Amino acid sequence: TKGFQVAIDGPASAGKSTVAKLVAQKFGYIYCDTGAMYRAVTLAALQQKIDLNDQVKVAAIAENLPLRFETGDPQQVWLGDQNVTQLIRTNEVAQNVSTVAAIPAVRQAMVKMQREIASQNNIVMDGRDIGTTVLPQAPVKIFMVASAHERARRRYLDNQARGIATQSIEELQKAIELRDQKDSTRKVSPLVQAADAIRLDTTALTIDEVVNEIIKKVKDN
Ligand code: C5P
Repeated sequence: TKGFQVAIDGPASAGKSTVAKLVAQKFGYIYCDTGAMYRAVTLAALQQKIDLNDQVKVAAIAENLPLRFETGDPQQVWLGDQNVTQLIRTNEVAQNVSTVAAIPAVRQAMVKMQREIASQNNIVMDGRDIGTTVLPQAPVKIFMVASAHERARRRYLDNQARGIATQSIEELQKAIELRDQKDSTRKVSPLVQAADAIRLDTTALTIDEVVNEIIKKVKDN
């Protein structure tokens, strides 16, 4: 039987994953971070020193990706026997992931995996094209946005809280805007709000307020 689906899309660092995890927890649904999947392909290609413009080689990696998610807080991401939970969050991966995610055959392989995961579970899935492409029938679709400055500020505070060396807010904002621009202008499944998605501007909202808003939408269904 097909499960219930909540699709959460939006630009980089809008708080999608934080909120998606909490909504999933509330209902006992699975949480699927599709950005982590594109990041894992990117990391594997970088580790194997593949030219990221070589679409055939990058696609081959995506099609044979030994990717595994392990429940935990935070959720652990594995590539074969390598724990890549931290490695997929580096600047190097962030700077290259949009190039990899624009390759049609890479997207095809990821979307297939994502639909398989969704077919077996009640799920909250976050990404860029969940409501438009991966799960177009999802009964609840949210498009989360916030000003680029606010998103950079949140990322900065988050980095500090985690004790990671962080770029300045201005540098983070530039990187975020560049990634959004690449994701919004690619040919296949660009970052765009689905016609039937609810737009949530979180610039002035707390995490709890956003989570409660989405919980209401799920309960209404
Ligand atoms: O969500 P996150 O910021 O981790 O996503 C990293 C990148 O993966 C995005 O900038 C985008 O290039 C790609 N992505 C995508 N489609 C998705 C999820 C992520 O193209 N559904």
